[in-house]
Amino acid sequence: MSELVHILNGPNLNLLGRREPDTYGRTTLADIERRCHAAAARLGLRVDFRQRNEEGALVADIHDAIEAGSGGIIINAAAYTHTSIAIHDALRAFDGLIIEVHLSNIHARESFRHRSLIAPLADGIIAGLGADGYELALQALAWRLIEHMDA
Ligand code: DQA
Repeated sequence: MSELVHILNGPNLNLLGRREPDTYGRTTLADIERRCHAAAARLGLRVDFRQRNEEGALVADIHDAIEAGSGGIIINAAAYTHTSIAIHDALRAFDGLIIEVHLSNIHARESFRHRSLIAPLADGIIAGLGADGYELALQALAWRLIEHMDA
């Protein structure tokens, strides 16, 4: 049975491809989802991929990952990264691995993007590599989850 991984995306990421392409590129979220499913199939993972504009819906998705016994969460919480104690608290209740992903390099942008409430809980952080970051996060999870299985 392959390990389940949740990939959770926050507000405005549904507009990728049209939204600030100089910052976020031309790749759409549907393209990223396709790439993630293809990578997961190669890596022996199952992916539940979601996008939500509402903070509470993202919290509920984290609860779903907990209930489903997911091995890892890859999360791009978008603007909620910088503000949401509710998402931070929900992630604290998750026992699996957490990888924070951002398309842009948040540390090279406005100072309000430099702080992440997810970062202190993350096993790893990938920022600034565009859509490749999601695939790299899946690769990292696959290595770690397989290591855990051997342990
Ligand atoms: C983002 C960076 C956030 O600061 C921003 O609010 C986003 C996208 C990124 O992927 O680069 O919406 O998370």
